[in-house]
Amino acid sequence: MIKAMILAAGQGTRMKSQHPKVMHQICGESMVEWVARAADDAGSDETIVIVGHGKDEICSAYAQKGWQFCEQPIGEGMPYGTGYAVMQGMSFINDEDEVLILTGDTPLIEGSDLTSLLKKHRDSKAVATVLSAKMKDPTGYGRILHDTKGVVGIVEERDATAEERLIQEINSGIFCFQGKALKIALAGLTTENAQGEYYLTDSLGVLRNLGEQVESYCMKDADHIRGINSRVQLAEAARIRQQWINTYWMEEGVTLIDPLNTYIDVDVTIGQDTVIEANVQLKGKTSIGSNVEIGAMSKIVDSTIGDEVTIDSSKILESEVGRKTTIGPYAYLRPKSRIGEGCRIGDFVEVKNAVIGNGSKASHLSYVGDAIVGERVNIGCGVVFVNYDGKKKSQSIVEDDAFIGSNANLIAPVHIKKNGFVAAGSTITRDVEEGDLSIARAKQVNKAGWAERFFNK
Ligand code: UD1
Ligand code: CA
Repeated sequence: MIKAMILAAGQGTRMKSQHPKVMHQICGESMVEWVARAADDAGSDETIVIVGHGKDEICSAYAQKGWQFCEQPIGEGMPYGTGYAVMQGMSFINDEDEVLILTGDTPLIEGSDLTSLLKKHRDSKAVATVLSAKMKDPTGYGRILHDTKGVVGIVEERDATAEERLIQEINSGIFCFQGKALKIALAGLTTENAQGEYYLTDSLGVLRNLGEQVESYCMKDADHIRGINSRVQLAEAARIRQQWINTYWMEEGVTLIDPLNTYIDVDVTIGQDTVIEANVQLKGKTSIGSNVEIGAMSKIVDSTIGDEVTIDSSKILESEVGRKTTIGPYAYLRPKSRIGEGCRIGDFVEVKNAVIGNGSKASHLSYVGDAIVGERVNIGCGVVFVNYDGKKKSQSIVEDDAFIGSNANLIAPVHIKKNGFVAAGSTITRDVEEGDLSIARAKQVNKAGWAERFFNK
């Protein structure tokens, strides 16, 4: 079996955060999720996560993932280091397993990189293979030491000689081990180094000294193994990931007007010929149909948008929008809004927890909350579904073909039946029967000459 062990017990001091480093997000997923995704894509059968600092946050966030969590005891006087972290997960490792060891802070790693690492590991019949890359500036990384037969070991920067520091091939922190060899190697680690830690990196030297074959797989694109230690590096990595995602969608037939300023999360899907303007954010589990136009500054989260929809500078959260509907400018669909096909939700309209049937319109300045609205209903300018009495929320129902005049208030719970007509400015507190007109406003009184008398006195 292929087992992925992700080291995520470190604090990430340089992030200056209340949250463990690996929980920071890139394009809709935390760093540790990105790493686990790469391992899954490479065919890993089980994910083992070593947690320590901030362990409760990590374990509770991913309780549903099916990952195995192993706790590394953290504290004064406790041993430390990547080697010690791996020791914590060994109860899940069998001798014949292929163990991918990954660090939780390399969120640009891809499944294909790990597949290539596994291939090199198998082809060269090594017991351990390190994923490496050549870097112009290798400062801070462990350096890979070679001889003609393969890898001799890894030396950490702090323990390296001046000559070793000139080596440009660096340790990504990602390895493939044979389970049995890993057990043997860990038993040979000591804390005799500059940091007094159990270095996982020493295990390569241990194995080589036992006469085993140790290899490196040197990646062409060093970007993939960037380690994130600070917010600046997090932002750089997020930008790279975002460009990969954006390029993918452009290649799938989506037009991005300004691909450097378009924010699409990893689990979003987008249909062909959709056009997305600048500064749009598509977040979470959002699905966008084809031939959709999404205007600048729109933010769509966990929502489903049908084909040929037009959305202009609007915010849509946990909602559904049917085919050929237009939204905005400046509309706000709050959670559980289900807008049908061919609808119009215009400027400054807010919808919350409401179903709106096909062909209905709320063109301007309305609030539709906790409502069921039928088909072809006209909701005039400034209509308010008054859903809250100060203690509880209530629902209103407006049936097909009803007409709600401008500036009406529908005090919930109230029911406007088919073809019901509510006069503009009415405050409706009782149901309106099918086909009836309801006027609920003070009768107009005109006083002849009143204004003239008033101003002339
Ligand atoms: C490590 C490598 C170095 C490599 C670099 C790549 C060692 C000794 N050094 O250095 O050769 O070039 O990564 O980025 O392995 N962790 C634990 N428990 C611990 C210590 C660390 O879980 O006790 C985790 C951290 O949360 C982190 C990962 O291991 O995700 C790497 O630890 P870090 O301290 O960042 O190692 P580096 O100094 O970067
Ligand atoms: Ca690191």
